[in-house]
Amino acid sequence: MLHPPELAHLHRPDPNARPVVELQGVTAGYNGSRVLQDVDLRVMPGDFVGLLGPSGSGKTTLLRTVLGAAQVQAGDVRVYDKPVRSRRNRAGYVPQLETIDWNFPVTVEEAVMMGRTMSNALFPWFRKQERELAYDMMERLGIASLAKRHIRQLSGGQQQRVFLARALVSSPELLLLDEPTSGVDVKTRDDVMHLLHDLNHAGVTIILTTHEINAVAVHLPRIVCLNGSIVADGPPHRVIAPHILREVYGAEMPVIQYQGMTMVAESAHFWIDRNGDDAEPLATVPDDSHRQPVISHVHTAPDNVPAHHHHQDEND
Ligand SMILES: Nc1ncnc2c1ncn2[C@@H]1O[C@H](COP(=O)(O)OP(=O)(O)OP(=O)(O)O)[C@@H](O)[C@H]1O
Ligand SMILES: [Mg+2]
Repeated sequence: MLHPPELAHLHRPDPNARPVVELQGVTAGYNGSRVLQDVDLRVMPGDFVGLLGPSGSGKTTLLRTVLGAAQVQAGDVRVYDKPVRSRRNRAGYVPQLETIDWNFPVTVEEAVMMGRTMSNALFPWFRKQERELAYDMMERLGIASLAKRHIRQLSGGQQQRVFLARALVSSPELLLLDEPTSGVDVKTRDDVMHLLHDLNHAGVTIILTTHEINAVAVHLPRIVCLNGSIVADGPPHRVIAPHILREVYGAEMPVIQYQGMTMVAESAHFWIDRNGDDAEPLATVPDDSHRQPVISHVHTAPDNVPAHHHHQDEND
């Protein structure tokens, strides 16, 4: 249903390419407080990176650092080889919906056009062209019929698409998305992820944050796990592992390889270690399609729930 916009000006990544985003030893936060510590991150052209980490781990702050909107206290942030301070940054940004001021008096159409009009407010004759571009993007994202509505009067999925359209109308080469699939239904999530994969194939470098490990993160080529600092960085089959998830989330999260898929039991209490210590081998169930993964809650572990009562035997 969704198609990428025309991005013919973009090239496939070449092996000698310079990083799109480069953070070296970055400590950043707000008003002197440290949120990110000693972060080294290098994102190359054409990368598609998922940022994973618990609430408060600094995912949004990392995106803001790349946008030049967080306080960098140490280290070096470069975007397209330029210090991020220069702000002339070719990034499209889709903010986390919770952070948006929904009382701001703006319609869908106006919100989408904000992605363009900043650059040429002095040239009113561009406005018709801009409107056409905005409508084209709204059509692609299925929100054109909502153009005159206030952004508050939309569902979460429609709101996500408005901000995605706003970010895309400027044909960004770097797209930063903060939880683009939170609060949307399964179909919308799949549409958004398809669109992003298409954009990525057209050459757009993408960094997104997500809390959805199974539905989003494991389908991305690269995952960065954050908990103030970077805990792991690599493809899902390496990064999605119990010892890493334990370090990132402070919770035991069994990882199941099942029929070629990586799945995480996303519950902090979903665990079978009855001996108290490191029970990692139990966390990985072999990829064995005829067997059901055996995972039970700690309180209902088999040893604690005898299959037979032996009171009569005791009396014999
Ligand atoms: N504008 C701000 N001023 C001061 N502190 C902030 C600001 N924004 C975030 N923080 C603090 O920085 C820390 C990291 O916040 P951040 O929003 O980056 O986390 P996050 O990983 O995006 O979390 P979530 O998953 O809940 O979106 C939190 O402790 C938060 O309270
Ligand atoms: Mg956030």
